[in-house]
Amino acid sequence: MQIVTDSPAQTEELGRRIAQQLRGGEVLALFGGMGMGKTAFTRGLAAGLGISSGISSPTFSIVNEYHGRLTVYHFDMFRVESWEDLESTGFFDYLDTDAVLVIEWSENIIGALPPDAIIIELSAGKTEQERIFRIEGLEL
Ligand SMILES: Nc1ncnc2c1ncn2[C@@H]1O[C@H](COP(=O)(O)OP(=O)(O)OP(=O)(O)O)[C@@H](O)[C@H]1O
Ligand SMILES: [Mg+2]
Repeated sequence: MQIVTDSPAQTEELGRRIAQQLRGGEVLALFGGMGMGKTAFTRGLAAGLGISSGISSPTFSIVNEYHGRLTVYHFDMFRVESWEDLESTGFFDYLDTDAVLVIEWSENIIGALPPDAIIIELSAGKTEQERIFRIEGLEL
């Protein structure tokens, strides 16, 4: 499935729609470079789960935890370079729970993603504001 958004608000709306499909236990693996809208998407997704405050890139903490209709662990793997780094984020501990895992910079942990991860690839569109979302493993 491919969806094009034309503003941060539309990207957030897409996140909200996807949140409605979640039952808990999903891993959403976000791919796509700096400023593509991964955090904007996550903000919308969290809002769709009833979480409204303080969603930002967890760049320095590596993982943020939010509680809404479901628990969300929001990772930023930008600085993760090794299996040990990844282990220390708690990723493996959260995998087999009912929480939703949202992972920015999934490029850095490809080998550790579960086979049923929902893959979300963001890329630039034709204009400054356009973002192309390619989503695998989830129907809207
Ligand atoms: N269609 C769009 N969707 C999302 N963001 C957009 C869009 N058009 C423009 N933007 C801008 O792009 C930026 C997206 O920032 P955001 O922090 O969400 O990206 P990111 O992928 O999380 O980056 P990083 O890898 O640095 O964490 C914001 O400045 C936002 O205003
Ligand atoms: Mg971000």
